Amino acid sequence: MLIDTYGRVATDLRVSLTDRCNLRCTYCMPEEGLQWLAKPDLLTDDEIVRLIRIAVTELGVTEVRFTGGEPLLRPGLVGIVERCAGLDPRPRMSLTTNGIGLERTAQALRDAGLDRVNVSLDTLRPEVFQAITRRKRHGDVLRGLDAAHTAGLTPVKVNAVLMPGLNDDEAPELLAWALENGYELRFIEQMPLDAQHGWKRDGMITAGDILTSLRTRFALTAEGEDERGSAPAERWLVDGGPARVGVIASVTRPFCRACDRTRLTADGQVRTCLFAREESDLRGALRSGAPDEEIARLWRLAMWGKKAGSGLDDPSFLQPDRPMSAIGG
Ligand code: 5AD
Ligand code: SF4
Repeated sequence: MLIDTYGRVATDLRVSLTDRCNLRCTYCMPEEGLQWLAKPDLLTDDEIVRLIRIAVTELGVTEVRFTGGEPLLRPGLVGIVERCAGLDPRPRMSLTTNGIGLERTAQALRDAGLDRVNVSLDTLRPEVFQAITRRKRHGDVLRGLDAAHTAGLTPVKVNAVLMPGLNDDEAPELLAWALENGYELRFIEQMPLDAQHGWKRDGMITAGDILTSLRTRFALTAEGEDERGSAPAERWLVDGGPARVGVIASVTRPFCRACDRTRLTADGQVRTCLFAREESDLRGALRSGAPDEEIARLWRLAMWGKKAGSGLDDPSFLQPDRPMSAIGG
């Protein structure tokens, strides 16, 4: 098991497959100038599958989420999913993507054994999309979502980050659209993980703001703590249900006490938290011929050092050096 000193057990593994992306969301990446990881530093497909196998067969991981950067940019993605689907026990597998290219790959991913996708989409307005992501790809994302739904990668979840002056008035519209299309919408509070270190607590749209805005058009009833478990989203039934909307209040209502996550970066570092400032290297051990038991031991050791929380509410909070794109969502 991957247990920490607070008694939490990590069963949910987030694997970043690349730090690259075809968008430049302002809350994540700078317009230009971000250094990519060098190719030889990236884990190979074989190394990734081996680490996932160790996590699933020796460390109690039951859930694998592929992230990025943009994971669809990884050429070996379908093969990685297929090989992980062959593991015993078979982990549940999902993908967090910006949706670009999903139109082409959704069916292949489904056939390879992927269970679900989370697609990031912050706005229904193409010009606002361009302002947020610095790219004209709104249509690609909508078609990607549609393809995921058709391929059965369900429930399709949509992640939206609201930002003041850009899309903070869009919450009800986004929800109406998600209900119409059968997507499960979740709003994520903007976190200090942008490469430019430009996040400001004062400016952020809070979970409270989002709920107030949604309630101008929908009746929301809390789903209750039992249902939430270790899921970061707090969920509300919309107009009595069964449709739901989620809010991930990482900043104003942190859920670190129930955290069940462990993370692997594209260059083979274990991170115990999005906001961790330390990482533990597994790539070195992999490449120096360490046996599975040794890798498992290093991974357990890393998780034993997991901090109680993100430290976001501490005045001495320091943003991690790596931006979100290099950590994985
Ligand atoms: N704050 C909140 N969410 C973010 N994401 C990326 N950067 C941030 C941030 N700074 C979201 C993406 C994606 C998910 C992986 O995290 O929009 O949906
Ligand atoms: Fe790319 Fe996701 Fe970062 Fe946007 S948030 S730039 S889609 S990695």
